[in-house]
Amino acid sequence: MLKAVLFDLDGVITDTAKFHFLAWRDLGAELGVTVDEAFNEELKGVSRIDSLERILVFGGLADKYSTAEKEALCTKKNDHYLELIQEMTPADILPGILPLLEELREAGLKAIVTSASKNAPGILELLQVKDYFDGIVDPASVAAGKPAPDIFLAGAELAGAKPAECIGVEDAASGVEAIKAAHIPAIAIGDAEVLAQADRVLADTSDLSLAVLRDTWEKATANG
Ligand code: BG6
Ligand code: MG
Repeated sequence: MLKAVLFDLDGVITDTAKFHFLAWRDLGAELGVTVDEAFNEELKGVSRIDSLERILVFGGLADKYSTAEKEALCTKKNDHYLELIQEMTPADILPGILPLLEELREAGLKAIVTSASKNAPGILELLQVKDYFDGIVDPASVAAGKPAPDIFLAGAELAGAKPAECIGVEDAASGVEAIKAAHIPAIAIGDAEVLAQADRVLADTSDLSLAVLRDTWEKATANG
């Protein structure tokens, strides 16, 4: 039986993905690295420090900065990101998410946030949706970030469910890879080619519903 839904945050609950992109693009420009939308796809779902490492490798700057300098660059990016998101309100919740959270609550399913973002609790406060969730996995508490399965396994545990009793919702290739590595069925939002590993890809969050989640979960677990 489907017992829990494990939600990515950025790009699923709200469109912060565009603000992460702008903040990395500007930091990249300062470092002389062009972060365009195509390269940004590779940063989605990836932790702050891992994103910086990928940008530095992409720009041929892998060995240029010390650990302390990299931490300072991450702080700079995050300060800019926090400036960009501070005006967010409940109006920024993506279409279909609130009705889905209501449906989950009524049906007694658990909802867990499995985001790589250290800013997740603050963003959920801005969106005023924190009460809909039964837990938030602290990304600092897991050994390896997405695409490793750790955060989704921790999410299942937090829900008191087995991985096979959960479904994950993601917008990033690294996130879908992480869900599948945890042996959890995956629904992805976005480009079907980029997210081909998912059990179902929806064009938009407004296509999400408990019925769609259940149907996807049932088909994905039918042979398991
Ligand atoms: C993910 C985003 O949800 O969180 C990434 O898709 C981001 O773009 C990562 O780098 C970490 O977020 P934060 O808020 O801790 O820098
Ligand atoms: Mg995301």
